[in-house]
Amino acid sequence: MAKKYPVRLKVNGKDKSAEIEPRLLLVHLLRDEFDFTGTHIGCDTSQCGACTVSLDGKAVKSCTVLAVQADGSEVTTVEGLGTREELHPIQQGFWERHGLQCGFCTPGVMMAVNNLLQENLEPTESEIREALDGVICRCTGYQFIVEAVQHASELIRKQQRQPVSTENVTAGGDV
Ligand code: FES
Ligand code: FES
Repeated sequence: MAKKYPVRLKVNGKDKSAEIEPRLLLVHLLRDEFDFTGTHIGCDTSQCGACTVSLDGKAVKSCTVLAVQADGSEVTTVEGLGTREELHPIQQGFWERHGLQCGFCTPGVMMAVNNLLQENLEPTESEIREALDGVICRCTGYQFIVEAVQHASELIRKQQRQPVSTENVTAGGDV
């Protein structure tokens, strides 16, 4: 029986640990051990990008990373973006601009977009297309995805312009 190694990482803000074989890929750790099945597997050639997650703030294809390499890291999957009740602006943008059809590529697309918008909140169309270079969508022809990203970027900027509520702040500063 192959030797197992302990790994600890933070996934979507929660501490997670497992004993794993050194050959296990990050995508399998996320899906099979931690049950974050929003991260999809669309190929076995590291090309489709459906498995894209954020690893220490950078978008990576989780099928190209060994799980042991992620030991001690912070990972965000599509489940960590928002909730059903409170969608992340990227999810809202895709919802409102129909940025998907079958949805298989969508988790990876959204994580690539998340990385893009963290680095560049007002990307041009060609910057959006370039950022999506590593993620293959078989359905949409990309136009609606690009429009969804532009809409998401507007939603985030609008959110940032909103003044912070002082409703619960008393004169003494207590909440
Ligand atoms: S599953 Fe296709 S690139 Fe990872
Ligand atoms: S929406 Fe079907 S693969 Fe992209």
